[in-house]
Amino acid sequence: MNDGDGTLAAQGQMRQFGPLGTALVIIPTYNEAENIKTIVGRVRGALPDAHVLVADDNSPDGTGKLADELAAEDEHVHVLHRRGKEGLGAAYLAGFRWGLERGYGVLVEMDADGSHQPEELPRLLTALKGADLVLGSRWVPGGRVVNWPKSRELISRGGSLYSRLALDLPLRDITGGFRAFRRETLQGLGLEEVASQGYCFQVDLARRAVKAGYHVVEVPITFVERELGDSKMSRDILAEALWRVTAWGMGERVGRILGRDGRTGRLRTEQPPRA
Ligand code: GDD
Ligand code: MN
Repeated sequence: MNDGDGTLAAQGQMRQFGPLGTALVIIPTYNEAENIKTIVGRVRGALPDAHVLVADDNSPDGTGKLADELAAEDEHVHVLHRRGKEGLGAAYLAGFRWGLERGYGVLVEMDADGSHQPEELPRLLTALKGADLVLGSRWVPGGRVVNWPKSRELISRGGSLYSRLALDLPLRDITGGFRAFRRETLQGLGLEEVASQGYCFQVDLARRAVKAGYHVVEVPITFVERELGDSKMSRDILAEALWRVTAWGMGERVGRILGRDGRTGRLRTEQPPRA
């Protein structure tokens, strides 16, 4: 385990963390018909007490209907049907809201395509007993990726490095999407201000957690590239990540120059919420 920052680690050890409560594993889906039954089954096997929420963006391939079938035969499985494809960020925000309203103690982010292995979930939750947020990390010792093309690995490593430097974050895997949050952590991140739509949503939440002073721990994971279906990564998603991370980084630097620094726990760089 490594959060890359001795000070934060020491703070974490000195703090008392409350009990975890029931976990909700949120799985956003867009055209994952080939994967949804397998992944839900694996989560149910790995964490029998946890609940699963499939957040489907009205997938044309019928993923939502398959998820409904799973929910009908298992009371630990739930489905959130959304209007249409609005991005990973919006799907997670809706899923978090759903879970917080129903009192879950832990909210987990996980991809549907098997890249995040449900069998690693117990390790994430064990780490969360002594943390506010646990990131499954490909880029700490012991973490790795299987079957990813070199090009994709470069984008991901580059994205994490750029975010780490631009935003001054003591983290190695900042874009990853296999994470466990305590409910109190999510409630402290200012989710109502989050405008990120695509994969930069992950960077957004990680930076908010660090800036708010939460104890963030990275746990090594093995990320396995999907065998079925297609990645939704696109040029637009990359472009959004690049401009937002750059804007956040510049905003923080300007704030520091103007002497408005200080660990207030609130970001001073936010754009106003969209109309
Ligand atoms: N509801 C919804 N809406 N789900 C979506 C959307 C969307 O607009 N876009 C993607 N998803 C779902 C996919 O169906 C999948 O379950 C998960 O989000 C991840 O999408 P992939 O398309 O498989 O992502 P990836 O493998 O290219 O990217 C991985 O690496 C990124 C960069 O590190 C993921 O782990 C991302 O979370 C990560 O940010
Ligand atoms: Mn994937």
